Amino acid sequence: MNGVAVITGTTHGIGRVTSRELAKAGYIVVMLCRDLHAALVVRDEMGAAVPGADIRVIRCDLASFASVRECAHAVRKEIDGITVLINNAGRVSTRHRMSEDGFELTFATNHLGPFLLTNLLLDRMNASGRIINVASHAHYRGRLALERVTDAQAPYSGVAAYAQSKLANVLHTFALARRLSGTAITANCLHPGVVATNLLPRWLRMLKPLTTRVIDAERGARTTLHLALSDEVAALNGCYLDEHQSAQPASPQANDVQLQESLWKASERWVCANHQQDHPR
Ligand SMILES: NC(=O)c1ccc[n+]([C@@H]2O[C@H](COP(=O)([O-])OP(=O)(O)OC[C@H]3O[C@@H](n4cnc5c(N)ncnc54)[C@H](OP(=O)(O)O)[C@@H]3O)[C@@H](O)[C@H]2O)c1
Repeated sequence: MNGVAVITGTTHGIGRVTSRELAKAGYIVVMLCRDLHAALVVRDEMGAAVPGADIRVIRCDLASFASVRECAHAVRKEIDGITVLINNAGRVSTRHRMSEDGFELTFATNHLGPFLLTNLLLDRMNASGRIINVASHAHYRGRLALERVTDAQAPYSGVAAYAQSKLANVLHTFALARRLSGTAITANCLHPGVVATNLLPRWLRMLKPLTTRVIDAERGARTTLHLALSDEVAALNGCYLDEHQSAQPASPQANDVQLQESLWKASERWVCANHQQDHPR
């Protein structure tokens, strides 16, 4: 086997294709999914498509700190070294909902869960491991309003919440990359393209046959796979890549070091509340 890839959100869409391709490339694939039954079906299908593949499933609901902790514990028990960690899972909540820990659900799922997971697995990354955050072009429209994240009565827009969470993915990546400088572990993020998956509204998915701007999950997985597998990017750290695998400037907000650090500190405080043993870096 070529290494170990740990990836979230593999029951559908981009994550499903990414996992299959990593299995084909000879990686042990550890799929972290909230729906265990669906994940086992995907694992069996993938096992049939890739003979000899070593694919494992661990339950992880990224919207729950307790579930993320349990999952990280299980990964640590099962795996010694991680070659690639891919924070792929994501959602958009059209209604204003709060997670069980008291955070706006899209932010909790797309940022706080992956932030906690990454910190809990960081010391299991191989010396030249790669951390990949699937962000989005939507981050350019994102505005960080941390004071609203814990306020169940705050005004809400699903689009703005998603854009905020994707901005958080880029801010997180850049702050992490800074912390990793001086090591050979890297952290990068990407926009996969406008991909016809469950995440998109139905009307936008239906445009796929009419426009080349909407791509399928096979193409949508290319940039993640490039960051995971290509020798060209082995030393790339702290970059944002577009759907053509080109490094692009992220938004001015995403490049704001103060904002990166305030998000890091707030996230650390939130995920660590009552869990001092986590010690995220
Ligand atoms: N599609 C696009 O046009 C597009 C554009 C830019 C960025 N992205 C990003 O690409 C990534 C993958 O999205 P996709 O387009 O492949 O969407 P998708 O087909 O809806 O897949 C999302 C995956 O995330 C999982 N997930 C959702 N909530 C979760 C939770 N609480 N805990 C664990 N897993 C959870 C889903 O699991 P279930 O099966 O249990 O729901 C599913 O496997 C996301 O980060 C998204 O923001 C997508």
